Amino acid sequence: MKKFFASLLAVAMLAGCSSGSASGGEKPSGGEAAPSGGETSSDVTTYDVGVAIYQFNDNFMTLYRNEIEAYFKTLETDSVKYNVTIVDGKNDMAEQTNQVNTFITQGMDVIILNLVQTSSADALIQKVVDAEIPLVLINREPLAYDKDGNTIDEAYEGILNNAAVCYVGADARQSGTFQGEIVAELPDHGDINGDGKISYVMIEGDPENIDAQYRTEFSIKALTDAGYEVDCLTDQVGNWDQTNGQTIAANALSQYGEDVEVIFCNNDAMALGAAAAITAAGRTVGEDIYLLGVDALDECVEMVNNGTMTGTVLNDAVGQSHTAVDVAVKALNGEAIDNYYWVDYVKVTK
Ligand code: GAL
Repeated sequence: MKKFFASLLAVAMLAGCSSGSASGGEKPSGGEAAPSGGETSSDVTTYDVGVAIYQFNDNFMTLYRNEIEAYFKTLETDSVKYNVTIVDGKNDMAEQTNQVNTFITQGMDVIILNLVQTSSADALIQKVVDAEIPLVLINREPLAYDKDGNTIDEAYEGILNNAAVCYVGADARQSGTFQGEIVAELPDHGDINGDGKISYVMIEGDPENIDAQYRTEFSIKALTDAGYEVDCLTDQVGNWDQTNGQTIAANALSQYGEDVEVIFCNNDAMALGAAAAITAAGRTVGEDIYLLGVDALDECVEMVNNGTMTGTVLNDAVGQSHTAVDVAVKALNGEAIDNYYWVDYVKVTK
């Protein structure tokens, strides 16, 4: 049902956008009214694409946004071009709201949105839907909750109820589970001092993000489900940031010393910071401490290979950005889109 309406809506949208001529192989001829919001010549159709990123100062989202831009380029042909504008929300919701308003005023043909705050999802979705612009939400999933406050999968009404709105992401439960499994699979299962429990430090991303919540929960759940005892020495918020990761790890190492057996970081940027703190504290990964991240940044994969990180989990920036762009192009072409698209995580160990 949704697909059917998505199709109708997208076709209706195309009638009013710069790229209308792209569907069905028709080209506008001289006397026809030019569709609004973009450039169309008799030979070339240019789609205007607005991409709003929560913050440029984020290693993973930098890979993601660069790949969005690069992949759109590869899809260009002699007759179809993508004019991609990418803006930095600077981790400020008011700034991002202005940016989305500007995209609407500029008549973008499609918007790809990495929300600063998912609590503002409804307001922004409504603006974009009212402007009849297809919307692809990425990376930060707006969530639906049942009456007990538990999350419900694939149930966000702003997505379900709008045919031209979708979410592209990865299920963060998987990444957390993989982190826990990497520790469980170690010869000592993370219990370096043999006291029968895994004593760990948790360094969390932005707690508003489900990625941070799920990674924190499921990394430990994988261990307890496998029958291991755990002891949380401290659990601190590092907001995805390398410097915060370093400070939190340094403080934990000075406070708990040898007791720290595993440092779980919700992402690799914070693990890079923790790695520096581990070295500064005279500790050695793989010998007297373990270190886990998520994202599989190039430098962290190298560290896993040379043993200075225990493991990470590939957060597939290429897979996610290509899916987001493919879905955006589908919407531009008047094809139906689904509500949700998922890309798998992959465990990275030596
Ligand atoms: C996560 C990623 C983090 C950070 C965050 C931003 O998926 O692992 O490194 O980029 O998204 O929301």
